[in-house]
Amino acid sequence: MKVLGIESSCDETSAAVVEDGRRVLSNVVWSQIKIHEPYGGVVPELASRNHLRYITPVVDSALAQAGVVPADLDGMAVTIGPGLMGSLLVGVQFAKAMALAIRKPLVGVNHLEGHLSAAFMIDGIEPPRFPFVGLAVSGGHTSIYLVRGWGSLDLLGRTLDDAAGEAFDKAAAMLGLSYPGGVVIDRISKGRPVDAVRLPRPMIKDPSLNMSFSGLKTALRRHLETLGRTPGEDETADIASSFQEAVVDILVSKVIAAARASSVNEVVIAGGVAANSRLRARMNDACEKAGFRLIAVPLSLCTDNAAMIAGLGHQYLFGVLKDAPCPRDMEMDPFMRHVSAG
Ligand code: KG4
Ligand code: ZN
Repeated sequence: MKVLGIESSCDETSAAVVEDGRRVLSNVVWSQIKIHEPYGGVVPELASRNHLRYITPVVDSALAQAGVVPADLDGMAVTIGPGLMGSLLVGVQFAKAMALAIRKPLVGVNHLEGHLSAAFMIDGIEPPRFPFVGLAVSGGHTSIYLVRGWGSLDLLGRTLDDAAGEAFDKAAAMLGLSYPGGVVIDRISKGRPVDAVRLPRPMIKDPSLNMSFSGLKTALRRHLETLGRTPGEDETADIASSFQEAVVDILVSKVIAAARASSVNEVVIAGGVAANSRLRARMNDACEKAGFRLIAVPLSLCTDNAAMIAGLGHQYLFGVLKDAPCPRDMEMDPFMRHVSAG
């Protein structure tokens, strides 16, 4: 069974063909990072306009790289939320039109469930077993779920303000580093001390599994104001490393607490920030110590991509969820499921 996935929720235009929900035949990602870099963040209007320009060539190359033509597809899946509405609409309308034209079933899927489902698409490792605790951590979201099964996720905790990726990007902008800041902070923090600057860990002692990152960002701004000058290169790296450590401390402590409270054996980390090398190393140590198996989604499937959407779409179209109702938290769902019967 081959499913074409389409993802356009933020600033990546992506299309992928996935076989049997696991085997990635192609995964084309056209990133708009260079376009948004001068603004230090994603500009929604520019994002949708560029999705519009690139969606057709991206889908064409995903089909070509997989060596298939539309008639070979068994179905299609598209991200329908959460995300930027103008950006989502480009992928959704393209997918609807294509599904109607080629007479294949189309399903709309949730972006965050997509991120977590990438854990089932890793070559050479046993996929997670339900139930597990999943951290979806990206530029727009930081949420911890108890994943009971496909389409069955309980929200255990989430950020009450900024997402961790957003905090990384804003901290990087304050430090004069380029966008996306998480990647740069990760790179320059390697080998640097983690405690050069004392920064708070907001809500880390709070008994809930919720998180907060905006106070940390403010503390960084205050530190830079008190410094009263532009830090040099090494000093910037030390500050970045201290900031990264604070974010990682919060994420590791809440995820381990969630896994303990839910009596699961496995932990999945997914989403753009899950590409962070310090988070992966620290989460690995913490899971090992606490007796959990950690499945960290590989870097190529961490940041936004359509392979995760196609893989999850397979479950809704042909897998255990084929008769289940579409997930409810989607703004456009009445129009999405099985646009055409094929
Ligand atoms: O999942 P994603 O591609 O898009 C959203 O759904 O938001 O995540 C993008 C976010 C950005 O904030 C970026 O700075 C962050 O992921 N990110 C990282 C790293 N790579 C990407 N943050 C920390 N360390 C990284 N290595
Ligand atoms: Zn994402």
